[in-house]
Amino acid sequence: MTKKTLLAIVLLFSGLALATSVVAADNLADRHAQDGLECTHCHVEKVRSKAPKMDTCLKCHGGSYEQLGRASAEKKPNPHYTHVGDKECTVCHKGHKEPEFFCNDCHKFRVQMPLAKGTTQGGQPLLTGANP
Ligand code: HEC
Ligand code: HEC
Ligand code: HEC
Ligand code: HEC
Repeated sequence: MTKKTLLAIVLLFSGLALATSVVAADNLADRHAQDGLECTHCHVEKVRSKAPKMDTCLKCHGGSYEQLGRASAEKKPNPHYTHVGDKECTVCHKGHKEPEFFCNDCHKFRVQMPLAKGTTQGGQPLLTGANP
C-alpha cells in the first residue's frame, strides 16, 4: 500500500467518523444543516433577518396545513389543526433558538416540541391542565 492510498483511507474513515458523530442539533437551522440544507432553503427572501413564511416551510413539509394537520392528527392536542387557524410556523418553530408552544399562553398542555430541551408546560395558564 502506498502512502497516498493509506492517507486516502485515513481521510475516508475520519470523514465517516465525523459524519456519524454529529452532535444533536438544538435549533431548526442546525437540524436542517445536518440534512445538507442551506440557509437559503429557508431564507428565500434577500433579507435574512426575516423569519421564513409558512409557504416556504410547507414546500418541504406536507404541502399544506391541511396535510400537516392530517399527519399529526393523533397528537393531543394536534398542533397543526386548531381553533386559532393556520398560524405562521415560526410562531412555534423558531429558527435559531428554543421553540415556543404558543398555545400555552392560554392552555397548559404538556408538549414536546421538536428540538426543545424538555417538555413545555405553560407558565400561568388561564385554562385547566389536562390534555383533551
Ligand atoms: C429551518 C429554517 C432556517 C434555516 C435553515 C436558517 N434559518 Fe435563519 N432564521 C429562521 C427563522 C425562523 C428566523 C427568525 C428568528 C428565529 O426564529 O430564530 C431566522 C432568523 C435569522 C436571522 C436574523 C437574526 C435572528 O437570529 O433573529 C439571521 C441573520 C439568520 N436567520 C441567518 C441564517 C443563516 C446564516 C443560516 C444558515 C447557516 C440560517 N439563518 C438558516 C429560519 C432558518
Ligand atoms: C428545503 C426543504 C425544507 C425547508 C424549506 C424546511 N424544511 Fe424542515 N426539514 C427538512 C428536512 C429534510 C428535515 C429533516 C428530515 C425530517 O425530520 O423530516 C426537516 C426537519 C424539520 C423538523 C423536524 C426536526 C426534528 O428534529 O424533529 C421541523 C420541526 C421542521 N423541519 C420545520 C420546518 C420549518 C418551520 C420550516 C420553515 C421555517 C422548515 N422546516 C423548512 C426540509 C425542509
Ligand atoms: C402551535 C404551534 C405550532 C405551529 C404554529 C406549527 N407547529 Fe409544527 N409542531 C408543533 C408541535 C408541538 C410539534 C410536535 C408534535 C409531536 O410530535 O407531538 C410539531 C411538529 C412538527 C414537525 C415534526 C413532525 C413530526 O411528526 O414530529 C414538523 C415537520 C412541523 N411541526 C412542521 C410545521 C410547519 C411546516 C408549520 C407551519 C406550516 C408548523 N409546524 C406549525 C407545533 C407547531
Ligand atoms: C388566546 C387564548 C388561547 C390560545 C392562544 C389558544 N387557545 Fe385553545 N382554547 C381557548 C379557549 C378560551 C377555549 C375554550 C374554553 C375551554 O373549552 O376550556 C379553548 C379550547 C381549546 C380546545 C378544546 C378542548 C378544551 O380544552 O376544552 C383545544 C383542543 C384547544 N383549545 C387547543 C389549542 C391549541 C392547540 C392552541 C395553539 C395552537 C390553542 N388552543 C391556543 C383559548 C386559547
